[in-house]
Amino acid sequence: MANKKIIKNKKIAKLTIADNSYEFPIYSSTEGESVIDISRLYSEANIFTYDPGFTSTASCESKITYIDGENGILRYRGYDIEDLAQKSDFIEVVNLLIYGDLPNKEQLKKYRRLISRHTLLHEQIINFFQGFRRDAHPMAMMVGVMGALSSFYQDTLDISDSHQRQEATRRIVAKSATIGAMAYKYSIGQSFVSPKNNLSFSENFLHMCFSNTAEEYKISPILSKAMDTIFILHADHEQNASTSTVRLAGSSGANPFACIAAGVSSLWGPAHGGANQAALEMLEEIGSTKNINKYIKKAKNKKDPFKLMGFGHRVYKNYDPRAKILKGICQKVLKHVGIKNDPILKLAMTLEKIALKDKYFIEKRLYPNVDFYSGIILRAIGFPPEMFTVIFAISRTAGWTAQWTEMIEDPIQKIGRPRQLYTGNKSLKYGTIRSKKNTR
Ligand code: SDX
Repeated sequence: MANKKIIKNKKIAKLTIADNSYEFPIYSSTEGESVIDISRLYSEANIFTYDPGFTSTASCESKITYIDGENGILRYRGYDIEDLAQKSDFIEVVNLLIYGDLPNKEQLKKYRRLISRHTLLHEQIINFFQGFRRDAHPMAMMVGVMGALSSFYQDTLDISDSHQRQEATRRIVAKSATIGAMAYKYSIGQSFVSPKNNLSFSENFLHMCFSNTAEEYKISPILSKAMDTIFILHADHEQNASTSTVRLAGSSGANPFACIAAGVSSLWGPAHGGANQAALEMLEEIGSTKNINKYIKKAKNKKDPFKLMGFGHRVYKNYDPRAKILKGICQKVLKHVGIKNDPILKLAMTLEKIALKDKYFIEKRLYPNVDFYSGIILRAIGFPPEMFTVIFAISRTAGWTAQWTEMIEDPIQKIGRPRQLYTGNKSLKYGTIRSKKNTR
């Protein structure tokens, strides 16, 4: 899918190894960095590139999301995240990410209907939840049940069939919210609440989480708008760890439900989507502004594994635009639920102020990211910290399915299979016992 027009411009990169020199084409982007196509390097020079963590590696060509880390810009299919957060809604954003442009009124109405018709789960899936302990992390249920969907929806496993691919993406987005709500209900020992298809996606999620057999949850427009904005902000983010996991799983031809389950697993990590739960727990552990300096010191101490959760980002070397939007929503939500001067929010804002003036954070260009404020809002809405990453995963099913679709439809796509720098034993005769220390 490489941009053929650009190759004609013959921009090339020259590489000299010993007395051999090699030329590789440079492809220009429409926005942001260009790339050097080194796919022929190994066959021509018998050498690999080495880039642990892929800090300088583009794994694919994509038209979905653009991030300018220097200037704190995030765009979905060219639309600024600020505009979408203010003017759009999550289902319209899902359609935009997957199909590439904003749907017209008719298309959007039809898409909402299609999504809402997939909110129910096969009755037998309820048995899966019974297998979990009540204190299982809801993300464990998300991983398990998402993967299990492939055994219930066998009419959408053929990835070569465009209709089946599209139906699978709709099922994954729609059912992720129902599974997430069921995981929450199961963890608090309440019966599951069925979706109501006359509600919007976000209203439905709040209804399934907070209604119960004794009373209907009264949906507040302020909280459902905040919920919807959180879903929009977390929907996609270029080739982050969990999206790269989905792409790599998909490159082997694995079915879409299995690929998304792999993405849920990767997102769970505290360095990635698990940071929203970790950030709120960190704020609660810091407890008061007088302890801030002690934790800032810990975060700066190389020997201490502690990191300021919700701070720093591989790409943003400026304020994460999503954090800015979430910070703005905090006050409105807290006021609506009647939390005056929330000590945790005050602590977060003071911590941010101190950290952003600290030489270490300035030099390493560490700013609050999407996970720094999201937990404060979700806690105010009524979610426990264990549900924060589940909510992130529900939202990210939009980006994961859009990126998976793009990868499957990429004509140059092949199975992802990186190589390595091998520094292990050279050939040994069987029976040569070499290791002195018995570390087993
Ligand atoms: C998400 O990729 C995405 O787009 C992810 C995401 C998405 O939408 O998909 O944006 C969502 O995952 C946001 C990030 C959430 N994670 C956290 O908030 C956890 C805390 N942050 C760090 O773990 C870290 O900042 C990462 C993992 C987010 C980024 O790590 P990088 O890019 O690999 O950077 P690094 O770890 O190499 O850090 C560079 C330096 C290091 O110091 P030196 O080795 O150069 O001396 O900055 C330091 C780090 O020690 N550093 C921090 C820090 N983050 C980085 N020091 C203290 N506290 C921190 N939070």
